[in-house]
Amino acid sequence: MSFEARLAAAQAALGARLSRAVVGEAPVHAAMRHALDGGKRLRGFLVIEGARLHGAAGAGAVEAGAAIEALHAYSLVHDDLPAMDDDALRRGRPTVHVRWDEATAILAGDALQSLAFELLSAPECHPDAAVRAALVLDLARAAGMRGMVLGQALDIAAESAGAPLTLPEIEALQAGKTGALIEWSGRAGALLGGGDPAPLAAYARALGRAFQIADDILDVEGDAAATGKAVGKDAGANKATFVSLLGLDGARARARDLADEACAALAPYGGAAAALRDCARFAVDRDR
Ligand code: IPE
Ligand code: IPE
Ligand code: MG
Ligand code: MG
Ligand code: MG
Repeated sequence: MSFEARLAAAQAALGARLSRAVVGEAPVHAAMRHALDGGKRLRGFLVIEGARLHGAAGAGAVEAGAAIEALHAYSLVHDDLPAMDDDALRRGRPTVHVRWDEATAILAGDALQSLAFELLSAPECHPDAAVRAALVLDLARAAGMRGMVLGQALDIAAESAGAPLTLPEIEALQAGKTGALIEWSGRAGALLGGGDPAPLAAYARALGRAFQIADDILDVEGDAAATGKAVGKDAGANKATFVSLLGLDGARARARDLADEACAALAPYGGAAAALRDCARFAVDRDR
């Protein structure tokens, strides 16, 4: 099966699982469904594909993939808030605080984070409670003060810093805000199958770095109407990115090198990892 077919199958399975996950008719429920809708499902795909490589394909991998997509959706709802990037569009549609209000966006984000841990810790995810606990611990670390939240805090601080960040500082910021959840997505597949997470972690680390550079290129180049990007503070002059330091061509070259590095980490899987290799190219060549 091609990468495109595998991604489409993962998107369908994750979409179906996430639609079942939110029940209720209050505004916060509608806001959660809105935030979960659409998206490339790249993180969930990594979980499902990694699990397949470790003999753990199936419903449990979809539960874990849905969990990371819920956590990711929470991070986006809060990222778009007026206090953060102040974005009016996400995935080409109004952001949650614009469609509803700020309180609903904060609460929907909070509930999406709880939902992630609910999905991951329920027996449907994996029959062995020790495996579930390892996944939960890993995700708590990736999402919190050492991971995504730290990266977001550094990103916000960079907006008002007196001097532009250096490349190593940008690397550290992006390893947190984007890298941590993507690396978890790589590790999770191996953990579900009881295998060594190191090769998929190395793959996902390089992929995450490439992915964020591509995101910054899209923020600069993107047609706001088509992508919902480059309309808030992300487009601001003080934004710390590879594009601002290396220029568009330099950033593109760096992203391609990182995609090659990601593919090299897949050597232990041989031809079975062809879809993940294509995924690394997709991460840098995508147009949304
Ligand atoms: C956007 O992530 C935010 C970043 C961390 C760069 P994605 O580009 O994966 O967002 P969706 O889920 O596909 O919309
Ligand atoms: C978002 O980074 C990262 C997280 C939500 C953790 P960006 O602010 O660069 O992402 P976009 O451009 O809004 O999608
Ligand atoms: Mg941001
Ligand atoms: Mg943003
Ligand atoms: Mg961005």
